[in-house]
Amino acid sequence: MRKMLSGTHILVTAGPTHEPIDPVRYLANRSSGKQGFAIAGALAAHGARVTLVAGPVTLPTPPGVERIDVETAVQMQAAVEAALPVDAAVMVAAVADWRVESAGQKIKKGAGGPPTLRLVENPDILAGLAASPRRPRLLIGFAAETEHVIDHATTKRARKNVDWIVANDVSGDVMGGTANTVHIVTADGVESWERMPKDAVATKLAERIAAALA
Ligand code: C5P
Repeated sequence: MRKMLSGTHILVTAGPTHEPIDPVRYLANRSSGKQGFAIAGALAAHGARVTLVAGPVTLPTPPGVERIDVETAVQMQAAVEAALPVDAAVMVAAVADWRVESAGQKIKKGAGGPPTLRLVENPDILAGLAASPRRPRLLIGFAAETEHVIDHATTKRARKNVDWIVANDVSGDVMGGTANTVHIVTADGVESWERMPKDAVATKLAERIAAALA
């Protein structure tokens, strides 16, 4: 039987990024990668060729998914560019907003007191893809918010020039947890899904993506 996403190539980013402070320390966030990995698996199960660019997580690769492991935002951006062209991209990664300007030798604890870290902004991989001549025809961003979830997601959709924003309320135990409550913000409005396991969110989203690409 022909599967819904046969013949398509879809990019998924997932997980956090780690930004080195020095060779032994890094800045990170609480993303587990579970939602992004579940989406990659669901897309592959529906017949898509899936390239999963994953930050540092301890999750098994879903069956049928081609996985590229990266550590930093700059590496993730390079891996995303190398995966193009794609029909759709689902950018689930919790990319660090900042990196340490220069991470040289191990910083020594000493008489000078605590070090000052100079941060510089990381590239916005999603916005870069939206502005690229190789923009996928369906570009989906995620928005992790702790308040005014739908308002912020609606603004973000317009500002980043993406087709859909999947907004999730991360004020509870979403990060690292197994369930998620999401709102799909598109040009046509907002669809709020009931709280469900991340695997179920992934399956439902894969079906919606298949319908949009058909
Ligand atoms: O602006 P904000 O970080 O909240 O946007 C979240 C969305 O943008 C997610 O889809 C995330 O994967 C993507 N993003 C990105 N590169 C960044 C920051 C966010 O691709 N540097």
